Amino acid sequence: MPAIPETPLRIVVAGCGAMAGAWVEYALARPDCRIVGLVDLDLAAANRMAEKYQLTDAVVGRDLAAVLEATRASLVFNLAIPAAHRSIALTAFAAGCAVLGEKPLASTLDEADEMIRAARERNLPFSVMQNRRYLRPIRSFRTILGDGTIGTPGYLGADFFLGPHFGGFRDLMDSPLLLDMAIHTFDQARFLLGADGVSVSCQEFNPPGSWYRGAASAVALFEMSDGSLFSYRGSWCAIGCQTSWESDWRACGSRGTAMWDGRSMPWAETLPPGETPGSGGFFDNLVRVEAPDAWTGREGHEGCLDEMVDALLSGRPAETDGAANRNSLAMVMAAIESARTGTRVAIR
Ligand SMILES: NC(=O)c1ccc[n+]([C@@H]2O[C@H](COP(=O)([O-])OP(=O)(O)OC[C@H]3O[C@@H](n4cnc5c(N)ncnc54)[C@H](O)[C@@H]3O)[C@@H](O)[C@H]2O)c1
Repeated sequence: MPAIPETPLRIVVAGCGAMAGAWVEYALARPDCRIVGLVDLDLAAANRMAEKYQLTDAVVGRDLAAVLEATRASLVFNLAIPAAHRSIALTAFAAGCAVLGEKPLASTLDEADEMIRAARERNLPFSVMQNRRYLRPIRSFRTILGDGTIGTPGYLGADFFLGPHFGGFRDLMDSPLLLDMAIHTFDQARFLLGADGVSVSCQEFNPPGSWYRGAASAVALFEMSDGSLFSYRGSWCAIGCQTSWESDWRACGSRGTAMWDGRSMPWAETLPPGETPGSGGFFDNLVRVEAPDAWTGREGHEGCLDEMVDALLSGRPAETDGAANRNSLAMVMAAIESARTGTRVAIR
């Protein structure tokens, strides 16, 4: 069981860019959290954050280890670019701090393993933001996939087609879609099926008109540990007819099919109770089933932060604990390897 830090949590924010605002606002709204330090390689970004949120007492700097020492911090928010997640986490653990960080956990699986090992050796909590698990409709979708409504799921499919113009690090990454975005979708697939990836065949490509340097589109087929197949088709340079950020989902089971467009509540078409496949004739009789709406937690970043902070303060692993989240990153890394080697890759 990880050690439970004292409250108020003394938080240093490492990486004061676009995403950090949501985390800072979350911490400022909690009486058991204090932001004691702001770190960024770009000192102006850290100073802007201090000014915006009137964090006049926070220590601002570029050197994380020095700021951790000066502030006697107990928790680091790891919100820098993916390539910096490893060094920030290892510095934080060496200073005895817990780490809650942005996705992706790390840039490589070896880095992720090093971070997970370092947290474990020091018995420190370490979990990762997967905000797309914390939405009312995905909780409902998971319920109808798991409660027998559609029977045993054998196929799950996600379509993700958007065309955002970010600028910045994503435009320069080798695999912006798979590493920076598909981590969400693959993590959602693990969450929905309650299963991990076993193997994958993937092709990555950069279609005509793409404004990314790396491959902004991919098609991947995963074999999952429950025997089902998970099919992913995605693009981050799709112009027109776009899906939601949550993807457009279809799950087929032994008694029916469930649909979720990522925006509205999911629903299913299933065999009526008592009927078996074929008992209705050439095409089966079907009934429409609305997904239950039972999620009462907060959504998005707040929902995942509620879970991570509650886990931290109760000494239990969060749903998005680093060691578990590694399995989502492993799906990403195997998909990238499959695309580069042109082979089907077993997932470590
Ligand atoms: N969960 C989500 O929905 C979501 C959405 C957007 C971004 N993100 C993630 O959040 C993270 C940050 O993304 P962003 O959009 O805020 O990027 P950004 O480029 O706006 O900000 C990153 C900041 O980190 C700083 N930085 C880089 N290396 C550093 C280091 N070694 N130490 C300290 N600071 C360093 C940069 O100077 C910059 O200010 C990424 O991992 C990204 O994938 C998550």
